[in-house]
Amino acid sequence: MAMRLEQAVRGGQDGWEGSFARRARAGVGGEIVNMMALSGATDVISFSGGFPDPSTFAGQELANILAEVADDPAVFQYAPTSGLPGLRDWLAGRLERLEGQAPAEEELIITSGGIEGLELLGKSLLDQGDVVAVEAPSYLGAIMGFRSFEAEVVGIGVDDQGLDVEAAGRLFAEYRPKFLYTIPDHQNPAGVSMATDRRQALVEAARRYGVLLVEDVAYRELGFAGERRPSLWSLAPDVTAQLGTFSKVFTPGFRMGWVAGPAPVVAQLVLAKQNTDQCTGALGQRLLEEYGRRGQLDRSIATARRLYQRRCQALLGALEEHLPGGVSYTRPEGGFFCWVTAGPGVDTTALSPLAREEGVAFVPGRPFYADGRGANQLRLSYSKVEDQLIPVGVERLGRILSRAGEGR
Ligand SMILES: Cc1ncc(COP(=O)(O)O)c(C=O)c1O
Repeated sequence: MAMRLEQAVRGGQDGWEGSFARRARAGVGGEIVNMMALSGATDVISFSGGFPDPSTFAGQELANILAEVADDPAVFQYAPTSGLPGLRDWLAGRLERLEGQAPAEEELIITSGGIEGLELLGKSLLDQGDVVAVEAPSYLGAIMGFRSFEAEVVGIGVDDQGLDVEAAGRLFAEYRPKFLYTIPDHQNPAGVSMATDRRQALVEAARRYGVLLVEDVAYRELGFAGERRPSLWSLAPDVTAQLGTFSKVFTPGFRMGWVAGPAPVVAQLVLAKQNTDQCTGALGQRLLEEYGRRGQLDRSIATARRLYQRRCQALLGALEEHLPGGVSYTRPEGGFFCWVTAGPGVDTTALSPLAREEGVAFVPGRPFYADGRGANQLRLSYSKVEDQLIPVGVERLGRILSRAGEGR
């Protein structure tokens, strides 16, 4: 109280940090802000953000749909907190087709992108000091989000078959985390997918120890071969909340996503959303519904898969050619990301500004871990780099990694 009073009297800028909430100081650096800042740069080949390629945005089709729906005032009005009935109905049907089951009315909420789903889960489930298990490495936005609720975020290893499910079982037994957050398909950042037998074993462990699984399916539809392994939600809807986003396959501009999960969890998310943004924008919901019902989303996803597969192949070919010995990388079968591991002494955070000077950008590995590991790793996103620039950017990266290796 005395400190607050002193600030009030003193005022001025240097007092503000002292006013920040404890949870605001718990976040991980500003990596997402850095990535967003790089998105407009033209002097650098950026493998940085997980951005969809703009050629996948259906501007003209959406303009046509807008012209058709704009007479309906409901598209500009507040919407129900759990989403517009039309979009919910279309999405439930889509999940039934893709996953073999539809969520019941009270098992589905429309969210403002994937991040909002994570925020609502954190807000609904996490108290200070609660344990949350994540993959190591995992999506840094999720780690930051869970930390903002002052959770204790614990990482479980990942290999080329996905999450180490035996380690997850041991952690469940010992710590009973509030939930496990996993990205089973074409993971961010490692680009790997969880093997089917591990999915089976994971849902069994979750049931045994009563741990909620939060399954993020952001890249699920972007498998290059088009095939899908069973989702955790389809295997065990009783213990899984599936968190989806349309940002990667429709457009991030409308901030559209969903959570399908156990009814009591979803009911709590709906309550939490009432004082987050109250409702997801109605206009985006209507455009997505129409775009989906007309079959345009499925057609666009089929084209996008081919585009990202081509870029991924170009990247892997260039890595093979330009990376020095001792540097390894994953071989994605979908999604946007490839994960690179350099020799033990290399510090990719320190290399990042040097890379910018050479005209190439990546995301250093450390923020993808909850415990400071990953110093010698980095993430490359191939989704938005023009085909012909991929080898040029990788050659620059190769030069930097070679120099770093020699300097050890
Ligand atoms: C795994 C994962 N989940 C969620 C998100 C966030 O999605 P949105 O942009 O819809 O909030 C991303 C974005 O990069 C992601 O990679």
